[in-house]
Amino acid sequence: MPETFPPSPEFAAQAVAGAALYDEAATDREAFWARQARELLSWDQDFHQTLDWSDAPFAEWFVGGRLNVSYNCVDRHVLAGRGDKVAIHFVGEPGDRRDITYAELQREVSKAANALTSLGIRKGDRVAIYLPMIPEAVITMLACARLGAPHSVVFGGFSADALRSRIEDAQASLVVTADGGYRRSTASLLKPAVDAAVSGDSPVSKVLVVRRTKSDVAWDDSRDVWWHDVVDGASDQHTPEAHDSEHPLFILYTSGTTGKPKGIFHTTGGYLTQTAYTHKAVFDLHADTDVYWCTADVGWITGHSYIVYGPLANGATQVIYEGTPDSPHRGRWWDIIAEYGVTIFYTAPTAIRTCMKWGDDIPAAADLSSLRVLGSVGEPINPEAWRWYHRVVGGGRCPIVDTWWQTETGAIMISPLPGVTATKPGSAQVPLPGINVAVVDDEAKPLGNGESGLLVVTEPWPSMLRGIWGDPERYRETYWSRFEGLYFAGDGAKKDEDGDLWLLGRVDDVMNVSGHRLSTAEIESALVSHPSVAEAAVVGATDETTGQAVCAFVILRGTATETADSVTELRNHVAKEIGPIAKPRQIMIVAELPKTRSGKIMRRLLRDIAENREVGDTSTLADTNVMNLIRTGLTTSS
Ligand code: WTA
Repeated sequence: MPETFPPSPEFAAQAVAGAALYDEAATDREAFWARQARELLSWDQDFHQTLDWSDAPFAEWFVGGRLNVSYNCVDRHVLAGRGDKVAIHFVGEPGDRRDITYAELQREVSKAANALTSLGIRKGDRVAIYLPMIPEAVITMLACARLGAPHSVVFGGFSADALRSRIEDAQASLVVTADGGYRRSTASLLKPAVDAAVSGDSPVSKVLVVRRTKSDVAWDDSRDVWWHDVVDGASDQHTPEAHDSEHPLFILYTSGTTGKPKGIFHTTGGYLTQTAYTHKAVFDLHADTDVYWCTADVGWITGHSYIVYGPLANGATQVIYEGTPDSPHRGRWWDIIAEYGVTIFYTAPTAIRTCMKWGDDIPAAADLSSLRVLGSVGEPINPEAWRWYHRVVGGGRCPIVDTWWQTETGAIMISPLPGVTATKPGSAQVPLPGINVAVVDDEAKPLGNGESGLLVVTEPWPSMLRGIWGDPERYRETYWSRFEGLYFAGDGAKKDEDGDLWLLGRVDDVMNVSGHRLSTAEIESALVSHPSVAEAAVVGATDETTGQAVCAFVILRGTATETADSVTELRNHVAKEIGPIAKPRQIMIVAELPKTRSGKIMRRLLRDIAENREVGDTSTLADTNVMNLIRTGLTTSS
């Protein structure tokens, strides 16, 4: 029986969420969501139907409703007299600081919206954003939302090639970038990657550049414009227009089981309803007093939903930090918490495990007594890391919310509710009120307590993806074809004896490295695009710190010979094709790959090798001797 941590009576007494939410949602799910939409958001025009599922799996939520996301995240807080409240405490890695109130944010977003308009952006146009974690990233996203121009944020760690393919897929006509950003005390350049990504034939006609690091960058007068030239001088007045509840808000690319990243797209009313609701209920947000901090990057869905849209829709005060936790020293995060009196802290298990490795004395040196709620996201949190987070960071008093969700789900789906749920280390536990999930077997039969199977969502939810940009068939095929009428999440899950859910990781060829989703197929195709590689197979091997690590098995072409240099070159090649986050931890040069008679690579066996295990059942291999060959080859070459 795992130990549980019931909420303290004091916490429960002040909690935003109560057990009644579960009953309300179970009685009438749609009425529950309609109430959230109307209470949490301001609509220019009310909706007349909560959900239209008649064209499933294509959902429409809050049909007929009209609203502006940027108005909801900014202007209405100012109009309500909270213009002087800080929206963002920005902390740059070199130590620069900037506090932005809601009134200032309104002016900045208005200026950016006017500047984007002057650069030719109209409702429906796509804008690519390739920025470091600086306020301009948030301002640009909100300016796009204001105009109804869907943004496509590309994480700054992605390569020029990855940026180019995302720009082309979305047919973005403008890129917003910076000269560079700060990583570990050095300026790391971004603009050169944009220059390469938009060179030659490109849908991009303008590149808007924020000056952050003052680095020397190449300049094309016909295409490049400085942010300070066009935004700073623009009018700070801008009247937001209401958009349809189903108007596309953004596209965000994520790795799937094939080589080509999928452009997941989200729309307006449903997305904002569920991000606002979950941000409030799951983090127990008291907007007047809390200081919230989510350490994600806006390049990922966590940054979209829990740095930009959820917190700002709720009028929260938050910290945004540009850099890494160990710059200039390993106590940087804890110092920031102490300095701003952060009360709600949301991070990833991989970061928690890293801090745990650095030692208890580092967080112990800072005053963390302001903290009251801790969150975890991105991968399963192992009970040991959970306990450390609870004890060392949370001083034993803070509820931990282990939040399961995906780029596709848009917002949190499974999580304890602080003040309500007795938490259990390692388990995400229960679907939120309004969310219905099941664990099923291969035939879609729902499983009971004590059983493991596949996680599905059984009813549509407001912030669900509306599709894959430009490819409705792939949307249907990827998420809705495995089981009739059920959303297949791609994750395995177990229901324990209490019916609580434990997430077991991906069941497809998607890896999770430090909470980042990477596709085995995408890295394989990057490897085989190198002239010396004949064939490649990639697996995610268990890693103590990063959750999984990328391990590649490569067959070189006849003429190529293995050297330490070739392994380094291949790792760099992957970084160039996709980005440094996709660099394999290990590349093993082999003579053969294990394949079934139908030619499918048996990754399971390669994983056994990568994780230093006894190799499992090889009876379905076309050539059962292959595994011996691989093993022997590896021992002699290392
Ligand atoms: C994994 C991140 C266990 C899961 C928000 C999912 C988790 C994938 C958890 C989505 C969690 C996310 N426990 N696993 N609390 N949160 N995952 O799209 O495998 O980057 O399918 O969204 O991360 O990753 P994505």
